[in-house]
Amino acid sequence: MNNRINTVEGPTIIPTGAALGAEIRGLDLSLPLPDETVTAVRGALLDHCVVFFRGQELSDEDQVRFTNYFGKAEVHVRDMPDRPVKEILFISNIKKDGKDIGALGDREVGFHSDLAYMPKPGTLSALYAVEIPDSGGETRWGSGYAAYEALEDGMKERLKGLRATHRHPDTPLNPPEIIDHPVVCTHPETGRKSLYVTPMFTRSIVGLEDHESRALVDTLANHVTRPEFIWTHEWRVGDLVMWDNRPTMHGRGRFPSDQRRLMKRTQVFNDVAPVA
Ligand code: OGA
Ligand code: MN
Repeated sequence: MNNRINTVEGPTIIPTGAALGAEIRGLDLSLPLPDETVTAVRGALLDHCVVFFRGQELSDEDQVRFTNYFGKAEVHVRDMPDRPVKEILFISNIKKDGKDIGALGDREVGFHSDLAYMPKPGTLSALYAVEIPDSGGETRWGSGYAAYEALEDGMKERLKGLRATHRHPDTPLNPPEIIDHPVVCTHPETGRKSLYVTPMFTRSIVGLEDHESRALVDTLANHVTRPEFIWTHEWRVGDLVMWDNRPTMHGRGRFPSDQRRLMKRTQVFNDVAPVA
């Protein structure tokens, strides 16, 4: 199925037509990529925030090599044993000897931006689909750019200079200190502003009274999840999806617990904290 070679003409980029997301065709990610191809993929990622490649047959080493073109594949903060290649984290409901082999199980996962609860959150994440359920388990991405741009001018003014705190609901994953980031962040590479608020991680607005903070977090969390900012990916085995966490958030639908889902995940951290 996947015997194409990586040509110098470069890949074909097909936008989803939604607020974000593009398919990239014509690349076999099990092969090394020429520099100009990496540049084209990086450009597509900056333009579309999420890119996906279908029909890939990748070893763990292939996925790590591909990830390393865009930064350094890192070991995730989750303590998951049994990782043959330490940069690969399993996202799965599969159990081995009664123990989860990966994170997130079969439950619904609310909208979040990876590692926003850390001082220097994740920049890029990549998920490679190895086994997928017959139904459910779709992943949705939302555009923080589109969400910011759709705000009324008065709200944009109000958000200037504000910072929000972020905590993971699974408390052991959090650092000891409570982390805050600007509510509106400027992307270091595109210079575009995006709303950096997610329903799952964002807790409060720094410096506001409790009730006012709660009301603003609710308003913004409802705003970012409006359907016009969202694109849903229906997974097929062999898909690799890579996304830029800085101007996006994502969530996942639940799926039947008697079905298997196995994703392999790589992560590039940020070397700088988000800036306003
Ligand atoms: C992740 C994540 C969602 C999914 O890996 O960061 O949120 O679809 N995964 O498994
Ligand atoms: Mn995630």
